[in-house]
Amino acid sequence: MKKVLSVAAATVLVSSALLAKEVKIGVVLPLTGPIAAFGQTSKGGLDIAYAQNHKLKNGDDVKLIILDDRGDKVEAATAVKRLIDKNHVTAILGEVASSNSMAMAPVAENAKTPMITHASTNPRVTKGKTFVTRACFIDPFQGAVAANYALSKGYKTAVIVTDTKQDYSVGLSKAFRKAYTKGGGKVLKTVYINSGDKDFNAQVSTIKSLHPDIIDFTGYYPEGALLARQARAMGVKAPFIGGDGSGFPELIKIGGKAVEGFMYTDHFNEAAAKSPEAKAYVKAFHAKNHKAADSMGALAADAYGMILAAMNKCIDEGKAPTDKVCVNNNLRHTKNYHGVTGVINIDKNGNAVKSAVVNVVKNGKFAYLTTVNP
Ligand code: PHE
Repeated sequence: MKKVLSVAAATVLVSSALLAKEVKIGVVLPLTGPIAAFGQTSKGGLDIAYAQNHKLKNGDDVKLIILDDRGDKVEAATAVKRLIDKNHVTAILGEVASSNSMAMAPVAENAKTPMITHASTNPRVTKGKTFVTRACFIDPFQGAVAANYALSKGYKTAVIVTDTKQDYSVGLSKAFRKAYTKGGGKVLKTVYINSGDKDFNAQVSTIKSLHPDIIDFTGYYPEGALLARQARAMGVKAPFIGGDGSGFPELIKIGGKAVEGFMYTDHFNEAAAKSPEAKAYVKAFHAKNHKAADSMGALAADAYGMILAAMNKCIDEGKAPTDKVCVNNNLRHTKNYHGVTGVINIDKNGNAVKSAVVNVVKNGKFAYLTTVNP
């Protein structure tokens, strides 16, 4: 009798251990390299979201496998392949820079593995793809928000600064130009830079000679900060407006006084975040980091939450949370997801339709200006 009982007990133990499975999500981020701040802040948000929830409704444990691509597109694509072939992940979260996500997307698409980027805003990331989704708005929206904001403040002429090495910058410049011109503004010229450039003497000289009301900077913070410094040093007084790639503490660290008044569009500002989801996240973020919650981490938390919601829906539908087609289908049909960065609805192209904020550097800090709905 004793023996029978212990066998039964052992059976119960084994079956419950078998029941709680591990569901893997692969993450690809630029954790080192020139845009490491993008990856590190993303990871900061993921850590918080993961601590808040890492179990599916059937008891399965979610496991994150995080790979560093050093901000390189070839490495980003290789990382996706490895996560799918070697780690057998169900879904992939990443990257930040649109150029890197564009290198990853075809790999995920071919392997029919759902990929969600939390932060890549170039339309081409999801274009023509059925397995790629994003938790953020796209650049035609972001560019129009910046253009209309500039026009509403009376800035009628602009010079655009485009980083030709970044698909993000090229697309955002195009979007700004279109909306700005449509709204009655005049683009005097586009000047070109490359990621990694340090000397902007030629571009600043051109800008200075044109006397624009505003400078639209569509690149990333390292170049934005240096360009602003050199512009102020050469006596250019026009204000700057940029996109989400500008809004990093490093902009202020490197740019100092030169970036005072620098405006930019972004996904989130905790000063404007009133929902319970945002409040809970911000509270956890403050407790851990003792500083304001950044938008990148908030986006990463939302992309992660959307994957979990999609997996849980598969469980509701009687399917496995590891069913990649099911998870993808639910991700692509995300409706009314209450995230940290707002309410997220995914449109037929896999893009999130949601509001943007406009921020400004004021007294060495990022201050909130306004929210613009789609
Ligand atoms: N939107 C940028 C891109 O597509 C990435 C980014 C998002 C950078 C948010 C900073 C903040 O390349």
